Amino acid sequence: LQPKRLLGKRVLLTAGPTFERIDAVRGITNSSSGKMGYAIARAAAEAGAEVVLVSGETALPTPIGTRRINVLSAQQMLTAVEAEVAAADIFIAVAAVADYYVLNPSEQKIKKDAHILTLELAPNPDILANMTAKENPPFCVGFAAESENLLEYAEAKRKRKKLPLLAANLVQTAMGHDDNEIVLLDDSGETRLARAPKIDIARKLIAHITRLYDAAQLE
Ligand code: C5P
Repeated sequence: LQPKRLLGKRVLLTAGPTFERIDAVRGITNSSSGKMGYAIARAAAEAGAEVVLVSGETALPTPIGTRRINVLSAQQMLTAVEAEVAAADIFIAVAAVADYYVLNPSEQKIKKDAHILTLELAPNPDILANMTAKENPPFCVGFAAESENLLEYAEAKRKRKKLPLLAANLVQTAMGHDDNEIVLLDDSGETRLARAPKIDIARKLIAHITRLYDAAQLE
């Protein structure tokens, strides 16, 4: 049994992919099973936290002890996070948010013909960066999935998004799998979490977040 180090704390998470509508049946999405985010939500609940999980479409059951809010698009995810963030002590952004949305989605199914079809895409808001930019932000944790130069890209992302903690993983080892291997980057350097089932990685991540969060409260 995990020690209940997050008793009385509220943890808000995003998980899964977002889906940006092209027409009545089609859309643009990212490949993300949601498994890592759901495992972290479960681990946070085991640690005693009150957990809110804002989730894109996944095939996963709601983790025990969590309140789940279902969304489709990045804009809906942002709206849900905005509504919940003021109450949160810790925000963990695990979702694979689509970088763009379709400017003029069609209500009806687009019929195919011989012409070239052009989609106009506009950038989505960065949900995590919006939260760290707040006046009294919760303790924010980000994820970085990279296919190469993992540590270099991840540390640059941590600085750009002003995060006390970023969890970095390789796309090749993380996506769709039941286990993962991640590197945690914070102000004191790197901590490697060796390959293990996602729930074990999630419990270690929650323990690490708790240590940093407690230290930040003493500052
Ligand atoms: O910039 P990149 O997508 O690689 O950053 C990944 C981190 O930022 C993840 O924690 C992800 O959940 C978050 N993110 C977000 N909103 C976006 C893009 C990424 O919250 N539009």
